[in-house]
Amino acid sequence: MLPSKIRYASRRDYNSILKIALEVFSKRHVRYIRRMLPRTCILVCEVEGEVAGFLQYFSRRYNGLRISVVYYIAVAPKYRGMGIGSMLLETFEDDIWSDVDIIMASTWAENKSSMTFFEKHGYTIYPLRKLVSTLGYRETLSLVKTIEAFDDNVIMMKPTVRIAEDVSWLISKLE
Ligand SMILES: CC(C)(COP(=O)(O)OP(=O)(O)OC[C@H]1O[C@@H](n2cnc3c(N)ncnc32)[C@H](O)[C@@H]1OP(=O)(O)O)[C@@H](O)C(=O)NCCC(=O)NCCS
Repeated sequence: MLPSKIRYASRRDYNSILKIALEVFSKRHVRYIRRMLPRTCILVCEVEGEVAGFLQYFSRRYNGLRISVVYYIAVAPKYRGMGIGSMLLETFEDDIWSDVDIIMASTWAENKSSMTFFEKHGYTIYPLRKLVSTLGYRETLSLVKTIEAFDDNVIMMKPTVRIAEDVSWLISKLE
């Protein structure tokens, strides 16, 4: 494992973050990442002074639930498979764990590596159609809006230990 450091990003990191985003995602996704820069928290992993990956997140309320959302996570291709994504995700989880009821992330069904990555970290995968059939269309749409998952068809969830009473209605419906 290379010597690395996880820290919160400052404005000075925005160019490096967007450079990785351009390497990894389509231009549309890069626009979303850029647009949300002022309204999100970003953790970066630095390897020998270079930003090797980032995790962009925000927290919101949904029907009384406190949700933290992994908006985007990306590791530059040359640094993949070295545990950097895991370090970013684990640092983020440690930081928000006691303040939220559930963590969510979203992706598209073709992105198997992303689903494997989140599953490995204890997230349960819900295809959008399953959410629609259990929660109903309106409720699912409201959830998708809350977590800004407009382009995705898979939502991944991990309840925290401080799970509130309020979360049980959602989890029980999905079980
Ligand atoms: C998903 C991503 C962030 C993982 O980062 P990473 O630093 O390579 O991940 P790690 O090295 O910490 O891997 C942790 C686990 O995730 C899984 N994983 C990661 N990349 C994988 C891949 N390409 N295929 C299958 N499993 C993968 C593995 O199970 C791995 O466990 P292992 O080391 O025991 O094999 C990275 O692959 C990436 O940037 N992907 C493109 C962007 C993306 O799809 N982001 C998610 C949607 S926003």
